Amino acid sequence: MILIAYMRSICRGMLSSSSRLGKLLRRILGKRGPYPDVSCDYELLQDEDMVGEQARLRTSWQSPEIPQRQRFLVDSQLSAHKRGVATPVFDVLVKALRALSVPAGSSVLEIGCSSGYYSEVLASADLGLVYSGCDYSPAFIEMAEEKYPDIAFDVQDATELRYADRSFDIVISGCCLLHIPEYSVAIAETARVTGQYAIFHRTPVVIGRSTEYFRKKAYGVETVEIHFNEEEFIGLLTQSGLRLVATYTLDESIPEGSACRTYVCRKVLM
Ligand SMILES: C[S@@+](CC[C@H](N)C(=O)[O-])C[C@H]1O[C@@H](n2cnc3c(N)ncnc32)[C@H](O)[C@@H]1O
Repeated sequence: MILIAYMRSICRGMLSSSSRLGKLLRRILGKRGPYPDVSCDYELLQDEDMVGEQARLRTSWQSPEIPQRQRFLVDSQLSAHKRGVATPVFDVLVKALRALSVPAGSSVLEIGCSSGYYSEVLASADLGLVYSGCDYSPAFIEMAEEKYPDIAFDVQDATELRYADRSFDIVISGCCLLHIPEYSVAIAETARVTGQYAIFHRTPVVIGRSTEYFRKKAYGVETVEIHFNEEEFIGLLTQSGLRLVATYTLDESIPEGSACRTYVCRKVLM
């Protein structure tokens, strides 16, 4: 047992490097190759570190290390989902979109789309929506374009989108606000480019406490994760001209006063 654990730790070190040996080993071991955890090593940031750490880690998701690591996990989630296994993060978004009853052919933009895998989720749900995606990571968009050559993808930052006002029927903020220090600007941009609905998918919130900032590792790369005070978050939606019409809870811990929810908003005419 000790020998196996030792060998594993050596392999993990070699695989996480970008060496030729690492690449060769990855090819040999294929999908069994070990990758760092999705999320680990959470540390609550103190007030004095918040601004500096957010600035330092603002571009962390642009690391070229992340897409392959994330995709390894996503591919297994997608295949389970297609076999009919319940996958709450996918199922909730499908449920939220289905409830909108928009006509077939309606356009959807996912902001923070990573490698564009939600296009497969939407296609397998047969919602008849026309999906496109953007992300601030060139490496993610390169992977998305390779995987889905018929879908439109752009490298764009959520806080300064180059799309015209009301370019899409539905805009999904795809679990990216929590990594964006200027999240109020990103909310306003989401509201600006949608014509009808904005969905803030998988948003971590805290209840009865101020917004919290954590440093953590995502796929082995340091980043910041924000857990929004829910009241403040809903206030920002309202200020951006969005009316909350539905909330789906993915995860909730009442004693800890924390939850992860998908918020569906209707654009209010302004
Ligand atoms: C946790 S992943 C979410 C992926 C997918 N949307 C989902 O819901 O599973 C966060 C994504 O947001 C992207 N992201 C982070 N900051 C961004 C920004 N300022 N503008 C656009 N995308 C950003 C990251 O590159 C990453 O692909």
